[in-house]
Amino acid sequence: MTRIEITLGLLATIGAILVMGLIGATEEGRMAGAARGFTTRSVERGAKLFDGQCALCHGPNAVGLKCPPLDQTSGLHGGKNPGVAWRLEEMGWERTMLFEYIVNVVSNGRNASTRPWQWKGNRDVGPSTESLMAMPAFAQANNGPLRPDQIRDIANYLVAFEDFLPEDPDEAKAFAAAVPNKVSSFDDPGLNQRPDGSDPVALGAFLFTDLACATCHAVEAASPLVVCPNLSTIWTTAADRVADPAYTGAADGEAAYIAESIRNPGAFVVSGFVNGVMPATFGTLPDADVDALIAYLSKGAYTPLGAGGAITATAGITATAGTTATAGTTATVGLTATRSTTSTTAP
Ligand code: HEC
Ligand code: HEC
Repeated sequence: MTRIEITLGLLATIGAILVMGLIGATEEGRMAGAARGFTTRSVERGAKLFDGQCALCHGPNAVGLKCPPLDQTSGLHGGKNPGVAWRLEEMGWERTMLFEYIVNVVSNGRNASTRPWQWKGNRDVGPSTESLMAMPAFAQANNGPLRPDQIRDIANYLVAFEDFLPEDPDEAKAFAAAVPNKVSSFDDPGLNQRPDGSDPVALGAFLFTDLACATCHAVEAASPLVVCPNLSTIWTTAADRVADPAYTGAADGEAAYIAESIRNPGAFVVSGFVNGVMPATFGTLPDADVDALIAYLSKGAYTPLGAGGAITATAGITATAGTTATAGTTATVGLTATRSTTSTTAP
């Protein structure tokens, strides 16, 4: 062995040691990168599965539809921000257990909604739905369609909405407040309770937000929200509508027109707008709630009658509102549009 060979061998050994050292040093980063890549792919698969299995009820991008939103605006999120992620606590779960909570609900479904006055799920579809589960069980172990790994993918997808939340608690609260698609009266149990109805205007104002009318309709004339008719002058508009020869509905006055618009939006479709965007699900609202909404929207022009008043006469229209299936699908369009409007106003 010549000296030069020994030197080369030595250099090779030192080189190999150096390379191993470098690999060792980056191993942690590499593992983290791989884990991120794995989670990203899982989230992507979860998003696809969600579109196919869940969006029908929970809305596209989980923004909520006839079932609660599950995105960053929902009570499932904001764990870093006490006061926003109320939902897990409400259900008796640790706030840190979001992943497990989702896997649990998706695997087992929910026999009855915990908020049936707002999110009836399957029980909302027809008169003989009492035997149906509000949310079906999705685990194959429960005769559902999804494997355990697919349910974990969906849970990763829903957990990932947390990334949308601002880190700063104050900013996060302002963000949650700016999103009109607020979840339910539980959102801030201290502030957002349903009024008892003794003041119909107050109840109407509450319902207008709580039933998510406000995600589509503006009540201020100057609002930039234009995806659906502006309701700032709906009382005078209503009079014009029923007097219009092109009017196709059955209402004979302002209050009846507004009631009809809520309960059976297809009876007359406002020119320039599409039938089916406004959900037909309001057909089952109690008379007193419709009365309160009219009182609120009329801005003082209407004297509330309460249940049993003139509003009941128009309730017969409800029967035609049964076409929920198509309306529900089309409503997606309106809600998606709203989402982009919303994001421009969010900080
Ligand atoms: C037939 C309609 C329907 C379908 C389809 C559906 N859900 Fe639900 N989901 C509901 C209802 C109803 C609730 C109960 C709401 C309540 O209790 O307030 C619910 C509740 C949930 C909750 C708990 C929310 C909370 O705040 O407690 C999660 C998470 C959830 N669903 C995820 C999913 C996922 C993921 C899918 C698809 C695999 C899905 N759901 C499919 C109707 C549905
Ligand atoms: C997903 C979007 C959406 C939601 C949610 C929604 N609407 Fe509508 N609404 C529409 C659209 C689109 C129209 C116009 C098409 C039509 O006449 O059906 C409309 C029409 C109306 C009209 C008639 C307006 C006019 O100029 O004649 C009234 C009144 C009304 N909605 C009230 C409500 C109330 C009250 C709620 C909540 C209980 C509500 N809407 C929820 C989309 C929506």
